[in-house]
Amino acid sequence: MNASASPLRASSRAGFEHDLLITAGPTHEPIDAVRYVANRSSGRLGIALADAAVDRGLSVLLLLGPTHLTPADPRVQTVRFQSVADLQRLLKRHFRKSRTLVMAAAVADYTPITPPAARSGKLRRTASGLVLRLRPTPDLLAGIAAARRPGQTVVGFALEPASRLLRSAREKLRRKSLDAIVANELRTMDSPTISATLILADGTTQATPKSMPKADFARWLLDRLPDARTTRPLP
Ligand code: CTP
Repeated sequence: MNASASPLRASSRAGFEHDLLITAGPTHEPIDAVRYVANRSSGRLGIALADAAVDRGLSVLLLLGPTHLTPADPRVQTVRFQSVADLQRLLKRHFRKSRTLVMAAAVADYTPITPPAARSGKLRRTASGLVLRLRPTPDLLAGIAAARRPGQTVVGFALEPASRLLRSAREKLRRKSLDAIVANELRTMDSPTISATLILADGTTQATPKSMPKADFARWLLDRLPDARTTRPLP
């Protein structure tokens, strides 16, 4: 599909620099200068989405966490982040210039509380062990969704056990005030394939016909993102 034919390609007309701002990969939350708390995420899905989007002529900025995977297409503009705090700063800078945010990053829910001195050094091993205290991170997606302007679309992901997949995803869609959410099962994490359900703010759902490679899913999702933009009543 060429640029002019893509239904998503409205950024220049609407004054946005990027059609799509995509976040992908895990966050690393520092314990000290050499250790971190992280979640299992390869970033493969968000990267596949970025590659598929530039292939359609869309302008894409990918915010990518610490993973060894990178986009195949050099047209994907990529900025790296490490921690939730880094990602928060980048979102603050880039979301206002982006028409649609797809928040595929596996954002850590907690970050260690360690004394400032430990952050620049290395905690010693002691026989008595180590108790780590964690504090909750801010919900970046909810913050972004609350600050969006008319014409901006915010899409989240919900990674859930199969038993409560759709119920939890719907609850997150509402709680975070999103235009759409992609519900996928825990086993998707780190896997080359995905089966998922896209839930729009008006309650309609569309499920993938089967488990598919993430590159195929990326195209499936891009085909459906314009729906996410048009079904939500603008504030
Ligand atoms: N998310 C975020 N900031 C966080 C945690 C999650 O922006 N601190 C985003 C994720 O990128 C994802 C969506 O919120 O797009 C849902 O993430 P998930 O971890 O499933 O939900 P949580 O709100 O963290 O709820 P819980 O962990 O209790 O399931």
